[in-house]
Amino acid sequence: MTDAPRLWTPLQRLTQKRIAANADMIAAAPDLATDIRYLYLFLQSPADCARAADILRRFGRAMIHLPTLGAGRLVEQLRSDGFIVKTGLSVLSGAANDVLAQSEALAGRSSLPGGMTVISVAEGLSDEEAARIQAMQLMGGLVPMPGEAISDPRAGGIVLRDSSAEIIGFASQLPLASGGQRQGLYLVNGVVIDPAWRGRGLGSWLTAMAMTRSRNSDAATFLSSVDVDNGPSVAMQRGCGLRLVGSQAFLFARVSEEDEAALIATEAIA
Ligand SMILES: CC(C)(COP(=O)(O)OP(=O)(O)OC[C@H]1O[C@@H](n2cnc3c(N)ncnc32)[C@H](O)[C@@H]1OP(=O)(O)O)[C@@H](O)C(=O)NCCC(=O)NCCS
Repeated sequence: MTDAPRLWTPLQRLTQKRIAANADMIAAAPDLATDIRYLYLFLQSPADCARAADILRRFGRAMIHLPTLGAGRLVEQLRSDGFIVKTGLSVLSGAANDVLAQSEALAGRSSLPGGMTVISVAEGLSDEEAARIQAMQLMGGLVPMPGEAISDPRAGGIVLRDSSAEIIGFASQLPLASGGQRQGLYLVNGVVIDPAWRGRGLGSWLTAMAMTRSRNSDAATFLSSVDVDNGPSVAMQRGCGLRLVGSQAFLFARVSEEDEAALIATEAIA
């Protein structure tokens, strides 16, 4: 599957390359996981700043999941070490049984407007169709999913088409790969509805449908992070049975622009 080169920044590409190159190490580390696109670092304590800094220097960027209490201290420390840290991400989570029960109810309540169809990515997706999904994600303010993640059958991706068969929506949830240590942890991922079709219940319905397709997988917990000011996404995910978790925080951290240039230069030389 080919990805349009313009979709990712050099740093995003570097992270993906290093994730692929270090897949075994990530699988063996109890505090790391990946969904191909991001590296996730699960910290038990905000005092583990050295671990976070080490990971950021090696991978360039990471999503850091940690207890909310004391998270501010970690942010301060990382910033004073020169990293760029984005806060303000809401954490949503839910046990698979609760989430699936609510999603099934939601998916069963509504029906699709006339002429629309839904297909599973597992039924086959062309490179152009995957590129259309990536472009929609980019325009919707998301980091596009790599083509291999969109088409990964374990992600249960589903595609919504309008009556002219044009793709107008996508939803999936990616299993976090971590050598079994986070077995059953799924991330709500890359959900997007074409702007012309938003606000009609399609995003909630599609997400609920994608979740119910996890019924026969090993899904134990769904997890998600979303900008606190992304009201539609939070409402959509709550509608699918996820709940806001105040005790856990997600931070997005990356190296400074100066360090990014140095990292990319090292990669180019290597
Ligand atoms: C998030 C997104 C997929 C929602 O799709 P949608 O089809 O518009 O969503 P729905 O119509 O199913 O609405 C979902 C909920 O958001 C609410 N909502 C919709 N548009 C809203 C808006 N502009 N402001 C506030 N709430 C809004 C709806 O009322 C509904 O909540 P309710 O069930 O409590 O009534 C869509 O806005 C989108 O593509 N955004 C850009 C990409 C993105 O942020 N994706 C989420 C990544 S996890």
